[in-house]
Amino acid sequence: MLQHWSRAIAHIWGLEGSLMQLDGEYDLNFSVATPTEQFVLKVMRPGCEQALVDMQCLSLEHLHQQSLPTQVPVPQVIITLEGQNFTVYHDPQGKPRIVWLVSKFEGLNYAHFQPKSGVLIHQLGSYMGHMSAQLESFNHAYLKRDFKWNLMQSGWIEAELGCIENLERKEIITTIVEQFKALETDLNNLPQQCIHNDVNDYNILVQGSLNQAPYISGIIDLGDMCLAPRVCDLAIAGAYIVLDQTQPEQALAQLVAGVHSSAPLTAMEVALVWPLLRMRLAVSVVNSTLMALDNPDDPYITISQGPAWAFLQNHRMSGGLIEARLRFACGLPLNTAAKPTLAWLSEHSGAFFPLLGADIDLNQAPMVDLSVEGSSIPQDPFSIQPHEAQQLINPNLQLALGYYLEPRLVYTDKAFKNSSWPSSNRRTVHLGLDIFAPAGTALHAPLAAKVEAIDNRQANLDYGGVVILRHQSPRGDEFYSLYGHLNPSSVTQLIVGQELSAGDVFAHLGEPSHNGGWDPHVHVQLALSIEGMGYDWPGAVDPDDINLWQSVCPNPSLLLNLNHDVTQYSPPSKDQAQQVRQDHFGQNLKLSYAEPVMFLRGWRHYLFDEWGRPYLDAYNNVPHVGHAHPRVAQVAAEQLVRINTNSRYLHPSRSAFAEQVLSHMPSELSVCYFVNSGSEANELALRLARAHTGAKQIITPQHGYFGNTTGTVDISAYKFASPRAKAGGLSQPDWVHLVDVADDYRGQYRRDDKAAGELYAQQVAQHIATLKTNGEQLAGFIAETFPSVGGQIVPPPDYLQHVYKHVRSAGGLCIADEVQTGLGRLGDFYFGFEQQQVVPDVVVLGKPIGNGHPIGVVVTRPAIAASFAHGPEFFSTFGGSNLSCVVGTEVLRIIEDEQLMNNAHDMGKLLFAGLRKLQKEHACIGDVRGFGLFVGVDLVSDPDSREPATQIADYVKNRMCEERILMGSEGPDDNVLKIRPPLTIGAEDVNHVLHMLAKVLQEVRVLTS
Ligand SMILES: Cc1ncc(COP(=O)(O)O)c(C=O)c1O
Repeated sequence: MLQHWSRAIAHIWGLEGSLMQLDGEYDLNFSVATPTEQFVLKVMRPGCEQALVDMQCLSLEHLHQQSLPTQVPVPQVIITLEGQNFTVYHDPQGKPRIVWLVSKFEGLNYAHFQPKSGVLIHQLGSYMGHMSAQLESFNHAYLKRDFKWNLMQSGWIEAELGCIENLERKEIITTIVEQFKALETDLNNLPQQCIHNDVNDYNILVQGSLNQAPYISGIIDLGDMCLAPRVCDLAIAGAYIVLDQTQPEQALAQLVAGVHSSAPLTAMEVALVWPLLRMRLAVSVVNSTLMALDNPDDPYITISQGPAWAFLQNHRMSGGLIEARLRFACGLPLNTAAKPTLAWLSEHSGAFFPLLGADIDLNQAPMVDLSVEGSSIPQDPFSIQPHEAQQLINPNLQLALGYYLEPRLVYTDKAFKNSSWPSSNRRTVHLGLDIFAPAGTALHAPLAAKVEAIDNRQANLDYGGVVILRHQSPRGDEFYSLYGHLNPSSVTQLIVGQELSAGDVFAHLGEPSHNGGWDPHVHVQLALSIEGMGYDWPGAVDPDDINLWQSVCPNPSLLLNLNHDVTQYSPPSKDQAQQVRQDHFGQNLKLSYAEPVMFLRGWRHYLFDEWGRPYLDAYNNVPHVGHAHPRVAQVAAEQLVRINTNSRYLHPSRSAFAEQVLSHMPSELSVCYFVNSGSEANELALRLARAHTGAKQIITPQHGYFGNTTGTVDISAYKFASPRAKAGGLSQPDWVHLVDVADDYRGQYRRDDKAAGELYAQQVAQHIATLKTNGEQLAGFIAETFPSVGGQIVPPPDYLQHVYKHVRSAGGLCIADEVQTGLGRLGDFYFGFEQQQVVPDVVVLGKPIGNGHPIGVVVTRPAIAASFAHGPEFFSTFGGSNLSCVVGTEVLRIIEDEQLMNNAHDMGKLLFAGLRKLQKEHACIGDVRGFGLFVGVDLVSDPDSREPATQIADYVKNRMCEERILMGSEGPDDNVLKIRPPLTIGAEDVNHVLHMLAKVLQEVRVLTS
């Protein structure tokens, strides 16, 4: 067959090319590749009307002829040698077929493309807007045909509803049809024009790569064009765009905003998008249900309806709120009343009756800061305790105000969460204004009102008594105010519909026992419309939706005669923090991630940004026992109020810390030094080696990192051998000798080589031999037990045994930097050297031992300490302060008490199992290695050559951060994903990491294919 159509191409268009059959529902489609160009040959179904093809060809010509600044990427028709748009050619069976040829776009179907970002959807909308503007002037007789896919004619499904057996589904479709019928007059009043009518996810092509943002490369298949209001085109595209989105309303808003940017929509059109979108989905599911009945043996028909049914059944987003969102996305006002109402309120603000009575001037009340940054309530952002909720403000304050739009962590109930992962996004931003005053305080109507709704919401952390009042501006526009946390018995005395005059007392503030469990206060909220939300107003909203909600529920300060600027919260500015950093910080201090993040709170293995958005921290190893551990905070605070002085005085905290550290060490290592950082500890380790051996020569692996001081940079190849070393005045000192990292995945000796450990260690022996020849003496060998910046490497199990043997026989000391690997992170071993079955001469500890407080520890043998003691006094002013000692001791105790090493073991097992599964599915995962929660995922562009995939690692790390999971990248080529969370991480979090990683790796697959 391919040969037959190849001949046709040569004959009709004079082209020589290779053909490949493409998918096509009714027609035959072939891709045609000539040496220079790509085309699509369309062989229409037998009996196809000529007018259908003519309409498409002419419309494509029309879209290409336009001399408009924006060219919509639609295919170009290739004219036959005889100068026609299409012709007739007989197929191998001798049937006449209409054939035509169009240019082919590069790109993948939107259906299969990942990620489907908001920017991409906006671009699609923008092209659609241009296309509808350009098609307005196109006409063709065939556009006027009867067509079941013309939304204007979609009423046909009503007669077919009997085909749906499931009653719930039938009811959904019935409702959609009823809603559609109610809109028919509006629809019929809209001008009709030529529309594409089928911008579905297989008719959109997308291109993109790891370093090029995805873009729409083509919009194809104009075979369904018809005459209809242009908003139908948008609704149809919307019906596909929403289907596989976790936040479909946001995706739809992007599409609508995109269309609006190039073809401004009217408010009427915006109002029609959602009901028309649902009608299109209804037509799809009814149509495929009928098809399934006709083709009972084709399971695909039923499967293909799945996403549309799932959306219709599960996504009962209220139409009113969707409309508000879409209007907002287009920059249209919430409704016609919103602007004049706000103007009227602001004109009269200052003259409304004071809510707490004429004697109380709220302008005198202080603002209280309950924000993510300004408050430590609740300590656990996942579970506010009753005593915390009941004492949000200083009990000495009789009157205080809580900010409008303040991000808070107090909303810990699951009702505030958006999905089921522990660190799912949640509603944190306060949409009202709080007035803290004693329980029993009377509330006076600020202006004339009718009681719209009363309720007693008894759930913990809910409102208790709540009242909604309806008001009317002199223009007749209605708006509403809500008062929550009231005494329910005062509220139940009200009657819905009851008229209130300005100043009338209508309720009283409740006690915690019946106001939802809160410190007595009233939450006041204003709404310019209750369309779509009824009486269930969200009191706190998702930070990503603030702008929308601000337009529905503006700052109620106007009603309370308060100053808008004083009562509206503004979070610490990320831009300003970045600017100060740029202006006043050294520029070789890097920020993590392409889009830097600002964190204001931490808890266990979670971090919270300035809007209270939670991030899962799968990266930071310093908060070893979890961010903001209350026990650490408590011992530190208690110590600071008693004494914090230096190690020249006796204090039990110092001996306690030493005992704690030594209890985990081999008995031979019994002398401790306390310093302030890993760098300082490694400096000291070098001095110990020099003092004990009288020598200076050091052997150390490539890519090692030991700290930022002059001495530690001298031994850190990661710094002195970096491409920028010279510019930084660094080079390899002549007393430092490098060996390969014992990397059995990518190095010269691999995992299948049983002698790999010995062979890597041989390089140490070779250096020692050279030193001997040169008459030099070895001071020691220093290595991170599992090289971290070197790429999360686990050396062959006997590597250090061989190395230490060589070093010791040359009189050198063996120094183990356990900054990254110590204290139980490995799950099976408290220290990395245990896995290597060696006992070092000097062990260096840092980072995790202070859980964020700066502590470094060096532990050594008594004989080495004795050699060092012959020299001048060693003293570190802050090293071993009382504060550091109590913190360090507490951290070590917590590791035991909370069995965190066990947790590292269990969670590591889960993580490794998941990663190994992903490795089978994704060729870019070359290696998964590590122990416990010290994990490296080595990404490769080719699993055979093991070529490091630096770009993929960069993409994955940044996308994971966008998905609010922190991980890093390491290794000489920066291609190894580094996962090393606080040891508190739980199974659900690990599954969250794996779930998101699977999603992002799928994107990588698409973007690299
Ligand atoms: C293995 C290792 N040793 C030493 C250090 C230096 O520690 P600090 O930054 O506390 O001085 C680091 C820091 O990253 C490290 O990873």
